[in-house]
This record gives sequence, C-alpha cells and structure tokens, in this order.
Amino acid sequence: MNASLTPRPSTQAAGVRADRVRVHFPTRAGTVKAVDDVSFDIRPGETFGLIGESGSGKTTLGRALAGLQPLTDGRLFYDGREPASLNRAERRRQRRDHQIIFQDPHAALNPRMTIAQSVMEPLDILGDGDRASRRRVADEALERVGLAPQIGRRYPHELSGGQKQRVNIARTLTLRPRFIVCDEVVAALDVSIRGAILNLFADLQDEFGITYAFITHDISVVSHVSDRVGVLYLGRLMEQGPAAAVCEQPLHPYTQALLSAEPLPLPSDQRDHRRRIRLQGEIPSPLNPPSGCPFRTRCPRAEARCAEQVPEWREVAPDHRVACHFAGPA
Ligand SMILES: Nc1ncnc2c1ncn2[C@@H]1O[C@H](COP(=O)(O)OP(=O)(O)OP(=O)(O)O)[C@@H](O)[C@H]1O
Ligand code: SF4
Ligand SMILES: [Mg+2]
Repeated sequence: MNASLTPRPSTQAAGVRADRVRVHFPTRAGTVKAVDDVSFDIRPGETFGLIGESGSGKTTLGRALAGLQPLTDGRLFYDGREPASLNRAERRRQRRDHQIIFQDPHAALNPRMTIAQSVMEPLDILGDGDRASRRRVADEALERVGLAPQIGRRYPHELSGGQKQRVNIARTLTLRPRFIVCDEVVAALDVSIRGAILNLFADLQDEFGITYAFITHDISVVSHVSDRVGVLYLGRLMEQGPAAAVCEQPLHPYTQALLSAEPLPLPSDQRDHRRRIRLQGEIPSPLNPPSGCPFRTRCPRAEARCAEQVPEWREVAPDHRVACHFAGPA
C-alpha cells in the first residue's frame, strides 16, 4: 500500500461497541475484576471520555479496546463486526486502524533512534512503500503535529515533554488510524502545554476522522475534550451520558463526589463549602469488592438495599445511564 497522510472522509471513522466486557486477572491472592460487565458504544468520529480514580480499570479497558488485552468475557464490535469474524487481511488492516497512545512520551520512544527513525518505524515494520516515501510521510506527520522536519535528526533526550508527545502522535498518525485509545496522554505534561496538545488531538480528529477513547482521571480534561463520558469505579460503569450532562449535572453519587473533589475555578472565599462532597476513604480492594453496589462503602446516600442488590444499569434520560438504585432526574 502506498503510504500517504491523505485524510479519509470522516464517514470512515470507526464505531466501537463494548457488550458486557469483563477482564479478570487471576492472582495468587484471588481474582482481580479489573473490568466487570461494562457495556457502552463509541460513535464514529466522537471522543468518548473514560474517567475514574486510580485502579478503576481505565487502562485495562483501554488496552482491551485497542486489541491488546484479551477479554475474560463479553464482546467487542468495531463497525458492527467482531475481530474473530475478520479474515487475515482485514485483521491486519484493523491492527493498523486501532492504536493506543500512553501517558509517558519518553518511554514510548527508543533513546537510540533519531526522531525520524522513530516516526518511520511503524511503516518500516509494515514495509509500507519505499524508504523515500516513508520518509516523506514521516516528515509530513511531524509537520502536521507542529514540529519542523529538522527535528527528525535529533534524539528523544534533546526534546521537551510536549515535543516528545507530539512525536508520539506523529508516529501514530503515519498509520492513519481510525480509532485511537488515548491513555492519560497529557498527564505527564506541564500544565501550560496541555491545552495545546488537547487542541492538536481535536484538530487531528476533525481532519482525519478519528474516533477517540480518551482516558483520564482529570475531570477538567475529560469535560473539555469529550462528546460523551463513561465513569468507572472498581471496574464497573457508574454513569454514562453526554459530556455536558455528566460533567455539569451528574446523577450518580460517585460522579457527584468526583466532581466536587475537583478544585473550583473560583477564589476560595467565594466557594460554597457546604455543597462540597468529599470522597471519603480509600477505594476498596478490587480483590474483595463490596457486595451490591460497589460504591456503597463511600456513598453518602447508601441504604440497606445497596448492600444487597447490584443496581441495574438504567437509562434515566435519553442516552444517560446510571447504576444506582436511587439516582435519577429530580
Ligand atoms: N496484569 C495484571 N495482573 C493483575 N492485576 C492487574 C493487572 N493489570 C491491572 N491489574 C489491576 O486491575 C485494576 C485496574 O487497573 P488499571 O491499571 O486498569 O487501572 P487504572 O484505572 O488505569 O488506574 P490508574 O489511574 O492508576 O492508571 C487494578 O487493581 C490493578 O492493580
Ligand atoms: S446504589 Fe446506593 S450505594 Fe450505590 S450509588 Fe446508589 S445510593 Fe449509593
Ligand atoms: Mg491507567
């Protein structure tokens, strides 16, 4: 195939559906249910944000979505098809179409390779086109992420964190992916450059018709970039819906607590402290999650029923779902 960075029509962005997905890790101490019965869909060309505290299963779910982590149970569909139903050529195409970008841009780059070599490497591995055309695509990708082609002669240690994440994005872009899992992609970067990198992701989405699963523990990031949002707690989805609804008028007590734990963009003397709900206590061990509702040990609204029954995953408003016995529109 001839390598080129030509945009695809946006109608070719990938749609992804997770249906009752479970990823369990057997350990000597017991089974860790890192992802447990999670269902959602990501629409073609949208950004689906996944939020949750550390250990809630975001990376495990992201790796599963990118095809890097086998499922214990459940199914994943891409454009309505399961990977197992694809033939060899389609599977090869899919491995290229689905990519993942991680938090630490430095770890993702080989310190002994020049930037140009790193950016070309995915195409080298695929044997795409000749060397000159691969070089052209790499230069084009570097330029597209806002870096001069001359940077290609440098080594990773000579670049800033933001430049390295741009290189990482360029490297992924050479494959012209349709679906990218972004796992905490700005978390390791200086706050002052996060906005520019988030804008770059948004521009590339518009231009190349990319679908994102955008993983972060930072609500301000997720509300800024997402069209729709899913909230994970102990491997389970607590709430899912349009980003504006979930981030501004959350219905689930966990999302409400997460949001109120965020620093408010107001001077401290103007904050209404009475309305701030703080997250009490630690996340329970995933080896021994609470019975019934997993959030019940920290939930300010918990009642006896919460220990006995797992809350149903209910649609309480159009495209807005919660797993709570009591949550719903007022
Ligand atoms: N290979 C593994 N073997 C055993 N347990 C694992 C494995 N990978 C992840 N876990 C456990 O699964 C749970 C979810 O981990 P995961 O890394 O997906 O969480 P996360 O939401 O990405 O957290 P963070 O915000 O810290 O990155 C954790 O309890 C973790 O210890
Ligand atoms: S089901 Fe009960 S414990 Fe769980 S979030 Fe709702 S009120 Fe809280
Ligand atoms: Mg993680």
